[in-house]
Amino acid sequence: MNDGDSGRKLLYDPHIFFCLEENQAQPGHTCCAEKGAMDLFGHMRAFAKQNGVTGIRINRASCLKRCENAPIMVVYPEGVWYAVRTKEDVEAIVKSHIMEGRPVDRLIVAPGDAAPQELDAVEKAE
Ligand code: FES
Repeated sequence: MNDGDSGRKLLYDPHIFFCLEENQAQPGHTCCAEKGAMDLFGHMRAFAKQNGVTGIRINRASCLKRCENAPIMVVYPEGVWYAVRTKEDVEAIVKSHIMEGRPVDRLIVAPGDAAPQELDAVEKAE
């Protein structure tokens, strides 16, 4: 495990930061906790463990300032941001990104992106 160019060894690979903010969302947005982040966080940790993923660290985070995409998380060392809504979403990230090295394109939010259209459609249906 290293961070590529520098050759430094990483303590955790991957290292995931999952926003569980409860009441400090940016103005006009709902915090990740109110959108089910805690259940998704717990499920991701359990699913990774069930699947024997090693070297992983999934940390609780405060507001990551991307509340428009809540619930949101970021996977390092790649720095890939994901907006997640369901347990199937976090399972897909563990299976595809973490275990197979293939990011889950349908859930990625690039820097500056608003919520993916797929997620907007889900919110409107709720
Ligand atoms: S409350 Fe989660 S990104 Fe702001």
